[in-house]
Amino acid sequence: MPIIQADRLTRIGAALLKAAGASDEEANAVASGCVNANLAGHDSHGVIAIPTYIDRVKAGHIVPGAKWTIVQESPTTTVIDGHWGFGFHVNAKAMELTIAKAKTANVAACTVFRQSHVGRLAHYPMMAMREGMIGLATADSGRSPKHVAPFGGREARLGTNPISIAVPSELEAPFYLDMATSAVAAGKIALAVARREEIPTGWIIDAEGRQTTDPAQYRKGGALLPLGGSEGYKGSGLAAMVEVLCGLLTGLGFGVEPTGRHNDGCFMAVFNVAAFRPLKDFRREVAEFARYLKSTPPSEGSRGVFYPGEIEYLREQERRKNGIEIEDATWDKLRSLAGEYRIAKELDLA
Ligand SMILES: NC(=O)c1ccc[n+]([C@@H]2O[C@H](COP(=O)([O-])OP(=O)(O)OC[C@H]3O[C@@H](n4cnc5c(N)ncnc54)[C@H](O)[C@@H]3O)[C@@H](O)[C@H]2O)c1
Repeated sequence: MPIIQADRLTRIGAALLKAAGASDEEANAVASGCVNANLAGHDSHGVIAIPTYIDRVKAGHIVPGAKWTIVQESPTTTVIDGHWGFGFHVNAKAMELTIAKAKTANVAACTVFRQSHVGRLAHYPMMAMREGMIGLATADSGRSPKHVAPFGGREARLGTNPISIAVPSELEAPFYLDMATSAVAAGKIALAVARREEIPTGWIIDAEGRQTTDPAQYRKGGALLPLGGSEGYKGSGLAAMVEVLCGLLTGLGFGVEPTGRHNDGCFMAVFNVAAFRPLKDFRREVAEFARYLKSTPPSEGSRGVFYPGEIEYLREQERRKNGIEIEDATWDKLRSLAGEYRIAKELDLA
């Protein structure tokens, strides 16, 4: 597997997206968003997705240069129609607008619909975090074919419906949660299939609704289970609430989009910490809280306690230094796209 530095990978991704029709701003938002996911260790949302996004542009599902519009607004709320633009770009604009409203109103929220995939969700609440605010984002996984069976069911009816919350602190590694509401990401099942490995029970069920450790059953009519193992009703409930915020509140609806066009519904909210207590005190106390958690004596076989967001930060430090391993299949696809757009030489990919 080739090991590529983050800067080079971002340059390659942005050049390919531009060649496919994206504006500079869109291409940079998508490429840096994907590479940031690779840096955080979430390779399923990294540059592996760029060829898929380019396929969607070719199919007319993503419209480069689309002008997003405000459908409805108040001093604290905004409803945004992305007009099928790149989700990375549209959703970041929606978050910028929501942060600006929270600067005057202290609390603001928005919904976004008709945009493509928004990628790793943490990016958006972390924008608020950097402004001294608490950011929250949820996404409904685009009404694409469903992956997760609701608790007690044996057919997928929910998306992996992620949720992310980021809070400002004095910590070096940002304090944020960013997680799918399924037991495990779909990409981890594909990886186990490729490696011919068994998976733990509690990750998936087969087409008959039986728990299985055979990852191949997932593609044979099986489904992911919601977060929580035998208490999966909690993950199922969380996923359902995310879908209400992102599918129903946006007006997108639930279930599978019949056209097959990826349509990420998002709900985001921003809370200005200074409206509740002095930001400086809050930032200090979040850091103290994280250190308090980390000082817990480790359980048997554990590496100790990590606070939310810390693992990603440690991976990022390592990958910034040593580069990012890219699967051969992904690298081949990026090289072949560079050939197709006749930019292989300038990207040193010939
Ligand atoms: N846009 C979409 O439609 C979509 C859908 C699903 C997931 N996603 C993204 O996929 C990515 C992966 O999600 P996931 O749920 O598979 O990730 P995951 O299972 O690795 O969980 C990630 C969360 O758990 C924390 N964490 C991980 N290991 C930890 C440990 N040992 N101790 C303490 N905390 C720990 C991380 O800091 C992070 O907050 C996320 O970035 C998410 O936004 C996006």
